[in-house]
Amino acid sequence: MEFSIKSGKSEKQRNDCVIVGVYESGKLSHSAQSIDEASDGFVTKILKHGDMDGKVASTLLLHNVKGINGDRVLLVGLGKNGELTDKDYRKAVISSVKALAKTGANDVAIFLAEVDVVNAENKKRDIRWKIAQMVEAVNDALYRFDVMKSKKHKAEKEVTKGINSLEVHVSEQDDNQAKVALKQGLAVSSGVSLAKDLGNLPPNICTPTYLAEQALLMVKSHGLEVQVLEREELKKLGMGSFLGVAQGSVQPPKLIVLQHLKGKKDQKPVVLVGKGITFDTGGISLKPGAEMDEMKYDMCGAASVLGTFKTIAEMDLPLNVIGIIPTCENMPDADAIRPGDVLTSMSGQTIEVLNTDAEGRLILCDALTYAERFEPSAVVDIATLTGACVIALGHHASGLFSNQDHLAKELLYAGEGSLDRAWHMPLWEEYQPQLDSNFADIANIGGRAGGSITAACFLSRFTKKYDWAHLDIAGTAWKSGKEKGSTGRPVPLLTEFLKNRAAKI
Ligand code: BES
Ligand code: MN
Ligand code: ZN
Repeated sequence: MEFSIKSGKSEKQRNDCVIVGVYESGKLSHSAQSIDEASDGFVTKILKHGDMDGKVASTLLLHNVKGINGDRVLLVGLGKNGELTDKDYRKAVISSVKALAKTGANDVAIFLAEVDVVNAENKKRDIRWKIAQMVEAVNDALYRFDVMKSKKHKAEKEVTKGINSLEVHVSEQDDNQAKVALKQGLAVSSGVSLAKDLGNLPPNICTPTYLAEQALLMVKSHGLEVQVLEREELKKLGMGSFLGVAQGSVQPPKLIVLQHLKGKKDQKPVVLVGKGITFDTGGISLKPGAEMDEMKYDMCGAASVLGTFKTIAEMDLPLNVIGIIPTCENMPDADAIRPGDVLTSMSGQTIEVLNTDAEGRLILCDALTYAERFEPSAVVDIATLTGACVIALGHHASGLFSNQDHLAKELLYAGEGSLDRAWHMPLWEEYQPQLDSNFADIANIGGRAGGSITAACFLSRFTKKYDWAHLDIAGTAWKSGKEKGSTGRPVPLLTEFLKNRAAKI
């Protein structure tokens, strides 16, 4: 899909289709009004006849509209005038491109960036936000994963269907800003798309070795520095906890370290740590069979780190950012760790493994200790860590935990700005005793109560030396059921967070 920024009148555009917005009250957006005037009140007449009620994201396709240059007009509902929320704006954009998917309209002009959009605090979103969100929403809606299908959707007929050029219209005075926003939206889309692809790939292909290879490919294409640490080096570092999880698999573990150093030399980096379990069987504490295939998504934290690095590289973001990805498989095996085993982590703390299915924290804790050497300004880990987080928050918000309220606030704000939201959960001392062990310094599980909180408490034992936040993305990284597939979250949130940090420096 090609995007471009254009200025001009809606009725003059010679595209296959022109997309304009209408409200529930029958009021027209500025560009719908122009078409109405050029066509002798045709749009008003249609609305009067009741063929289109203007409800958010409803659509009506019109052919042969007299007095205008385009072949078709697509009316898109924007709800009540003045009340279009940011989420509804996204919905309207997506439904308009979906409505054209099965038509012959390839070359389309969209006039939705001109409408007012309000955020949760009733403040108007600016042109940059509207353009970037539009691009991200369109790419998100048009994403397909068919590399593993033997017959691709490439039958000739299919190729001619659907939009291949989208001209995003803005007023002339907004042209420069819109072009910047377009670039940023495209960069986020490409990071999201990478994260989705990695998540959706089957676990027999997307192994720890594959993830490391993908990271190494980004050295040339994106100017990153990448290092891959092998088992021997991890042993030398004393990563007994990470290696414990990895020992049940024939796939060798990898610790991938990415460096995007585009800030000032003395600027302390932000470190992103992503859980990269390429398949989680549960290990000896084997998971039940139902939906176990979805545990290929247990590397979505890692995928979001790789995706975010792709995005910030494309943006050339002036900030120092380090990525750390511990990646391995969690398999049952003669060599696998058992419930009752005690592991010694890189920090020196010993861990009693009471459940081998609580493996994410076991690989993350060593990566979090490794992060200390970068003297970070902040560390954010991203992990599909607990089923309990899905029970607590469902599939809309990622769980957010932090040892610093100001860091939590920054991430919450970035989530609101990118429409990739998180919700602040407690990390109180009162929960810590649930991790007491009779046989080691700490147990790897804390019982059923507050499972996502005790998982975060476990990680907090390894993050005392820096400002740290943890995003539990178990409910947000992928969708189940008919729409099964990776969402690419939280690449938008992380990018927004890093962008905001870069702007403050
Ligand atoms: N990767 C899972 C968490 C998960 C489960 C995410 C289901 C999304 C859907 C994690 O490794 C895990 O198995 N956690 C256990 C922890 C428990 C043993 C304390 C869980 O959530 O059941
Ligand atoms: Mn598990
Ligand atoms: Zn897991």
